[in-house]
Amino acid sequence: MTDVRPTSPAESESVLHTLFGSELGGHEQVVLCQDRETGLKAVIALHSTALGPALGGTRFHAYASEEEAVRDALNLARGMSYKNALAGLEHGGGKAVIIGDPDAIKTEQLLLAYGRFVASLGGRYVTACDVGTYVRDMDVVARECRWTTGRSPENGGAGDSSVLTAFGVFQGMRAAARVQWGEPTLRGRRVGVAGIGKVGRYLVQHLVEDGAEVVVTDVKQAAVEAITEKFPQVTAVSDVDVLVRAPLDVYAPCALGGALDDETVAALTATVVCGAANNQLAHPGVEKDLADRGILYAPDYVVNAGGVIQVAEELKGFDFDRAKAKAAKIYDTTLAIFERAAADGIPPAAAADRLAEQRMAEARGTGSAGVPRQVRQ
Ligand SMILES: NC(=O)c1ccc[n+]([C@@H]2O[C@H](COP(=O)([O-])OP(=O)(O)OC[C@H]3O[C@@H](n4cnc5c(N)ncnc54)[C@H](O)[C@@H]3O)[C@@H](O)[C@H]2O)c1
Repeated sequence: MTDVRPTSPAESESVLHTLFGSELGGHEQVVLCQDRETGLKAVIALHSTALGPALGGTRFHAYASEEEAVRDALNLARGMSYKNALAGLEHGGGKAVIIGDPDAIKTEQLLLAYGRFVASLGGRYVTACDVGTYVRDMDVVARECRWTTGRSPENGGAGDSSVLTAFGVFQGMRAAARVQWGEPTLRGRRVGVAGIGKVGRYLVQHLVEDGAEVVVTDVKQAAVEAITEKFPQVTAVSDVDVLVRAPLDVYAPCALGGALDDETVAALTATVVCGAANNQLAHPGVEKDLADRGILYAPDYVVNAGGVIQVAEELKGFDFDRAKAKAAKIYDTTLAIFERAAADGIPPAAAADRLAEQRMAEARGTGSAGVPRQVRQ
């Protein structure tokens, strides 16, 4: 997917042009919410409900401007349509942003006010955690809004989603190994994991159990020590620059976005890239550079869908085994993307977009319009 990035000052002022007049827009509904008493300013963007109620998290962030917040909501909501479509969910894409520094303005009253706005959409949008919001926040939102997921187990939720996110990334990596080396295993491969936080450390465990040789790096020394203590066979390097230049078969970015910039792609020794981080491609065109260098890139939003699969499953009453079985399908989806990429002569990131668009186009024929079954007449 192309990011919604302004190319000129004039364009940057015209978020409405993006929405109504560009191929990056076309969102079904955008809701601006305000509650002056609590300081809530929020944007809820529903990109598509073709596959079902829009599902996506709530980002709480101190945006530089309201326009930037709306643009981010539009971009993130669009991304969720693609992610949910390829995760095989009966959900369209949506996302909300709350404008402001969460450390300064997040209160229970603000979250409750936000919950009332989400509830006012009658189930067309289902919310969850994102950057700046946590399981405990969703517990609060859920008091006003039944269309809330990502809650704590004590409140009927599934809790931390990183377990299934890591499992899904591992499945995507197995698919890439099969394409690159003929067998769906990382046994005997050298895998570099950048970022061993919530997702990265579970991924390391899968890799070790599969017989891979694992090298890690993290800016937090405590995280490195915890993992090398648990798995003494895992080695660590000082930083990401050293990691990507080390001899690797697989590079797994599991820290921040933008991990695959021109310099990194040129320096990579790995021939597979598959990790949890969102928005790994630093700019359009990187996916082609990777392909030109013979590096197989497993699209981020496909392999890191375990988390959204988990929150979608929570809505049905969470069953870990059922959710895990669904996340295991990330293996087949990733393989299908690599096959489509080879058949169409395009990079896997473009093939993923095509498959997602195909699924949404097919669903548009159903006319469900995102209205949840329980309120459909
Ligand atoms: N948690 C989920 O379920 C989930 C789902 C989908 C996508 N993701 C994405 O996966 C990535 C990791 O998520 P997480 O939940 O594990 O986050 P996290 O914050 O728990 O872990 C990130 C780790 O990366 C480290 N890090 C940050 N900058 C670094 C750098 N420059 N070099 C090396 N290490 C660095 C941090 O110290 C931290 O240990 C994020 O991009 C997130 O958006 C997470």
